[in-house]
Amino acid sequence: MCGIVAFTGATEALPFLLDGLKRLEYRGYDSAGVAVVHSEAQGGAPKAALKVVRRQGKVATLIEALSGTEVAGTCGIGHTRWATHGVPSEQNAHPHLDCSGRIAVAHNGIIENYTHLKDRLVEQGHCFTSQTDTEVIAHLVEQNYGETEGDLTEAVRVTVAQLSGSFALAILHAGHPDIVVVTRNDSPLVLGSFEDGAIAASDTPALIEKTRDIVYIRDRDLAVLHGDGRIEYFDPAGEPFVPNVYHVEWSLEQAEKGGYPDFMLKEISEQPRVIRDTIADRFDDRTRTLRFPELPLTDEELADIDRIYIVACGTSYHAGLIGKELIENWARIPVEVEVASEFRYGNPIISADTLVIAISQSGETADTLEAVRLARQAGAHVIALTNVVGSRITQEAQTVLNIKANIEIAVAATKSFLAQVTLLTLLGLYFAQERLLLTGPQIQEIFGEMRQLPGQIEHILADTAAIERAAKACCEATTALFIGRGVGATTCYEGALKLKEVSYLHAEAFSAGEIKHGPIALIDAAAGTPVVAVVTQSATRDKMLANIEEMKARGARVIAVATEGDGRIEKLADHVIYIPPTRECLSPITASVPLQLFARYIAVERGCDVDQPRNLAKSVTVE
Ligand code: AGP
Ligand code: GLU
Repeated sequence: MCGIVAFTGATEALPFLLDGLKRLEYRGYDSAGVAVVHSEAQGGAPKAALKVVRRQGKVATLIEALSGTEVAGTCGIGHTRWATHGVPSEQNAHPHLDCSGRIAVAHNGIIENYTHLKDRLVEQGHCFTSQTDTEVIAHLVEQNYGETEGDLTEAVRVTVAQLSGSFALAILHAGHPDIVVVTRNDSPLVLGSFEDGAIAASDTPALIEKTRDIVYIRDRDLAVLHGDGRIEYFDPAGEPFVPNVYHVEWSLEQAEKGGYPDFMLKEISEQPRVIRDTIADRFDDRTRTLRFPELPLTDEELADIDRIYIVACGTSYHAGLIGKELIENWARIPVEVEVASEFRYGNPIISADTLVIAISQSGETADTLEAVRLARQAGAHVIALTNVVGSRITQEAQTVLNIKANIEIAVAATKSFLAQVTLLTLLGLYFAQERLLLTGPQIQEIFGEMRQLPGQIEHILADTAAIERAAKACCEATTALFIGRGVGATTCYEGALKLKEVSYLHAEAFSAGEIKHGPIALIDAAAGTPVVAVVTQSATRDKMLANIEEMKARGARVIAVATEGDGRIEKLADHVIYIPPTRECLSPITASVPLQLFARYIAVERGCDVDQPRNLAKSVTVE
């Protein structure tokens, strides 16, 4: 995880580095640091040297530390860390230096062979000052710099060949005061130039103020950023190349809070727009057909699919669970949903007729990427469902479906989840259409209801008083249970994850029928354990009501998410949050919204950092 930034240009580097680090802070916030090449008077003659400032904690702490310090210079790098090797501390904060203090390295990823390299470097006389895996890179570059007679680019190229693991690197040398050398392997890196300089970062939001024309480099390619805005690109053999440039549409405003107290609330509020954009142009009312022009599969190939695997992690995995129910129900294709980290070490049964759908908001989750590689090697067709145009997963899969959530900053996923579920719903309908299991008019009817979803979510967002009251009543709890049936249960899995992530309140979700087979023992009458029940219109609604009675009888405090007009629930539940009626298959999209808000309100009540929960990072680029 972590975020790196690099700048070289005609103006001061520090403002860009700090602004970039703030925008990348969602990737990790254990420590932050910068290194800038500046001019030092040494015995009268000014000499270029590195100025490094690092602090444990968030970027704000670094900014505070910098306020009384002079860090002038037009070329520099920065880092915000999610610790993998060594505790979060100032000593382990990046950038890391070589023995001479003239080379600085910011690193995102894990160097798998660092112990071996470190032993050798120590034998050669190098002194280490941190517990990180990263520090070996600074010493290796130092070693190779000597051996390449001061050719920094070549020294980095030789270093990269010695590293195994994942890395995005930004490397600075005081002896080359206006260049930064960057490279990557399995960790993300984006680059761009503008009239006054060249920049690189782990993710696009750090760049878009300066440029929206973005370059992605391949594994182990090298780029040299020059202060006049030039960027030279080299492949791992040292051959120069000209890369493709992608234009991103995101604006800076989309990466700002826009008046909301936190990104999570802003992103929850954007969901009506997200759904509108996700379904736009998918259905032709004249011919009554769903369109998926991105899917290259022929009718025959679609008819031949005998099994679908959905692979994903965390929230994206939960979207996959909902997708499974819909695809199986409409298209009658068996779907297995696997946590990506298990899939890659399992022994999945894959043939040429297997379709794999890999879901990843960020498009850079290491486990999901590995699952994609495994599936492709085994001969499956892989569809990537992602929110990040040009991300790693889009380069690995044969087919890419972009969800239209736009940039998501809060670490806890909300709008991307709803967009994933919406797209999977459309995909389920499309497979059924192509396999002749649903007719045009049938799909038209369901799609017509999907068109109502944005308005229905706006209605939920317009009055959140009942959700806030329920959240206030539960914020002192130590554990909360979530129950539902069918897609209601899968909606609950995500609701419980959201609550855990942002409020640190322990929460578990169960299929309601399972609760009396064990979890009911968790209900503590004296504490009034909260039980959140998703009890929308469904074939099993009456069974749900019976389950709620059982919870109530044991002293639970029941918060029901129910359909407007459901009178019976009022008598059973302590709090009722009403949502507009939808057919059961679409209910995860509406029912998820109050669960997201419930989690957020509890987090706010408990004084938690809603956007950057402890120990988490937005994209998990390490296994
Ligand atoms: C979401 O709230 C979580 N932070 C996390 O579970 C996330 O969904 C997971 O890490 C997968 O990320 P991806 O969708 O970017 O692959
Ligand atoms: N492995 C490095 C460390 O622990 C980098 C981690 C990161 O990507 O933030 O410092």
